[in-house]
Amino acid sequence: MIEIKKIQNVDLDYLTYLLSTDEHNEEIFKVADEVRRKYVGTEVHLRAIIEFSNYCSQHCLYCGLRAENRNLNRYRMTEEEILERARLIAKLGIKTIVLQSGEDPYYTTERISYLITEIKKLDVAITLSIGERDFEEYKIWKELGADRYLMRHETASPELYAKLHPGDSFENRKAHLFELKRLGYETGAGCMVGLPGQTPYDMALDLAFLKELDADMIGIGPFIPNPDTPLANQGGGTLKDTLKMVALARIVVPTANIPATTALGSIDPFGRQMGLKCGANVIMPNLTPNPYRPNYSLYPGKICLFEKDTACVECTKAMIKGVGLVVGEGYGYRRKINIEE
Ligand code: 5AD
Ligand code: FES
Repeated sequence: MIEIKKIQNVDLDYLTYLLSTDEHNEEIFKVADEVRRKYVGTEVHLRAIIEFSNYCSQHCLYCGLRAENRNLNRYRMTEEEILERARLIAKLGIKTIVLQSGEDPYYTTERISYLITEIKKLDVAITLSIGERDFEEYKIWKELGADRYLMRHETASPELYAKLHPGDSFENRKAHLFELKRLGYETGAGCMVGLPGQTPYDMALDLAFLKELDADMIGIGPFIPNPDTPLANQGGGTLKDTLKMVALARIVVPTANIPATTALGSIDPFGRQMGLKCGANVIMPNLTPNPYRPNYSLYPGKICLFEKDTACVECTKAMIKGVGLVVGEGYGYRRKINIEE
């Protein structure tokens, strides 16, 4: 029997042990599903994502959008194109719009402010996922009505973080995430699984960090080597390790909103369904319009690139029902309940 208390208390030795053996996987998945049902119920929330720019000023070794990658058609959506998409999403009845991009300074404080102001008129929650910005900007956008901010911590190993992110540090990323929390954003962190050199202990640190932050949202996906990056020849993360991290994250932060990620769906055709069965309670249909969508190429094999326009909405709804869960109809804010025991 696994020791649930030790997981909840992020006992690093114990988590490292669980992440080093596959002996307890089925039990971890089962407990995660129970925790999910108890704390967040059977609803799965839809978050429509618009990947509005693939320009990026950063140099993350794993990512296809990195500034050095010349094998990518770069695009920026105009404000009107973004708003048109947002209106379509609202019409489809989806209550969260995620604005995601590379770190692209073209979208100034004012431009993002304008988008927030206009999109808030549509009665939806707004999630920003545009990377590290000035603390002052986070504040302005929060006051204008942005609800959530996604910024994965990527890895909580300071050494690995520094290797993967030239010129940046885990300390700095942490400061940004705590500032977002302090400003009242529902704050999303998360990591990749199977990064080059990442150990089970490093992944235990990821879980401890998610708890320390009290992450409102937790995105976990496998690392998928991208041929257009310096990590082209490295191995990637496995399905079972990623599912195990999703399940452990659910046990560690029981009320967090946890997506079954696109990367999980990209390494296995049933990856997202499996994610939903072992702790995940969110899914993010891709609503990036064509012809841009295939160019938001973080890693090879990304799913949904050539689906027709709004097809992912119907597809994800069917997927939720297919695993016996319920399509959420509200905004899908984090549940605020006291964790007893
Ligand atoms: N494999 C898997 N995930 C990746 N990301 C970026 N590049 C890759 C890759 N090669 C993830 C990062 C980032 C998110 C938008 O995509 O975790 O935060
Ligand atoms: Fe995009 Fe299924 S979610 S095709």
